[in-house]
Amino acid sequence: MHNDCERIMLTPEQIRARVKEVAHEVDARYQDKRPLAIGILKGSVIFYVDFIRELTCPVELDFMAVSSYGSGTVSSGKLRIKKDIDSDVAGRDVIIVEDIIDSGFTLANLKALLLERGARSVLIVTLLNKEGRREYDVEPDYNCFDIENEFVIGYGLDYDERYRNLPYIGILKRELYEK
Ligand code: IMP
Ligand code: MG
Repeated sequence: MHNDCERIMLTPEQIRARVKEVAHEVDARYQDKRPLAIGILKGSVIFYVDFIRELTCPVELDFMAVSSYGSGTVSSGKLRIKKDIDSDVAGRDVIIVEDIIDSGFTLANLKALLLERGARSVLIVTLLNKEGRREYDVEPDYNCFDIENEFVIGYGLDYDERYRNLPYIGILKRELYEK
């Protein structure tokens, strides 16, 4: 285990098994469709590649990078698009693949934006859900793991751009971000 981790929350084996299970459930819904899976950079990349590899439906890939203006939980109510998708989502069945839903700000805004652009449907798939933290009216359609309000790293998730490459999901030691 990395020295900056308090403990391992989810092992690579637990993640692999659950991601497979969720991907198969999602896959069953798109057998006669051609969904566009949008990975939200950068946190979802590792989850994204594991997830889409389990799909058998004719899925197309695209990516988006977003951030909220300012920081913290008091948002300006506007999502900043740092990198947009190449695809036209009008009439498409979109699957948003996101690492974690916390306040719900990112996903509430993203879903609204894609629907505004004419997406026929928008499904939200998340790796992690901090349910107790929700401030916006949005829920994932599929979620792999419900977690407590702890700051987690690894399997794509970062703290200050570090730890994304850890193969497990771990709890970051508090003293590293509470100074
Ligand atoms: P929301 O917009 O408040 O739902 O926040 C979602 C975003 O916050 C995620 O895409 C992550 O980038 C970030 N985030 C929230 N909790 C964590 C965590 O525990 N570890 C790493 N990133 C997190
Ligand atoms: Mg993120």
